[in-house]
Amino acid sequence: MANIIDGKAVSAQVKENIKAEAAELKAKGIEIGLAVVIVGDDPASQVYVRNKEKACEYVGFNSYKYALPAETTEEELLALVDKLNNDDNVDGILVQLPLPKHLDDKLIINNIRPDKDVDAFHPVNVGKIMIGDYSFLPCTPAGVMELIHSTGVVVSGKKCVVVGRSNIVGKPMAMLLLHESGTVTICHSKTQDLKEVCSQADILVAAVGRPKMITADYVKEGAVVIDVGMDRDENGKLCGDVDFEDCKEKAGYITPVPGGVGPMTIAMLMKNTLTAGKLHKGV
Ligand code: GUN
Repeated sequence: MANIIDGKAVSAQVKENIKAEAAELKAKGIEIGLAVVIVGDDPASQVYVRNKEKACEYVGFNSYKYALPAETTEEELLALVDKLNNDDNVDGILVQLPLPKHLDDKLIINNIRPDKDVDAFHPVNVGKIMIGDYSFLPCTPAGVMELIHSTGVVVSGKKCVVVGRSNIVGKPMAMLLLHESGTVTICHSKTQDLKEVCSQADILVAAVGRPKMITADYVKEGAVVIDVGMDRDENGKLCGDVDFEDCKEKAGYITPVPGGVGPMTIAMLMKNTLTAGKLHKGV
């Protein structure tokens, strides 16, 4: 039986440290603020945004929520982003994605000030990550790295396989593993012999969005298996990209869904917001 990586426990520790630092700053009169913008009424996005507000409350940040109607125009949204860019109470700006179809995600993100872009989605931040000179790391890949570190397994020299090449997870994930001197392979829908490639990985990260596609025959004995998937199985039950039951005997360490990567994403958002606040306040 693999060691189960407890994302709730690791994220709680990260948040405790942030909470302590936020309290110290507050004692010096320095407050940290995160603005969260949501457009429309997508139920999943509403849950995510609510959780982000709750996390701010927990660690002691001010949170400013802007819930805009689905018919908000690009001009209106850009005007809000501009206002937040220039608001000294706001250290971090997060525009919840996906936006309604008539709004251009890229255009909106490109207009967030890079030093307030706590998602690390702005091209300036993406470029900085590429050259290893960054202030913020994208929340999910950064959370995955924390989970890997929690196992005590050292990335340097290991065979790392990332399944999925999205801009938000797969690509930056590969880069973070590379920064720690992993030997990294990125797999995707056109990869030949996917099973064979995955089964050689010492560290396997699945971020494809296909329920339970990673079965035991994709997993090397003793590997670290990280599941970024948030999928629904045939019964509509939340599950990951990894077939947990099938893989749990073979993996050395494995993340559950829920309770693995999910809680880490928000913890890392809090970490980025703290970093942004310290940057702005010259701490
Ligand atoms: N939608 C789903 N995940 C995310 C995220 O990490 N950031 C933003 N802005 N939107 C999301």
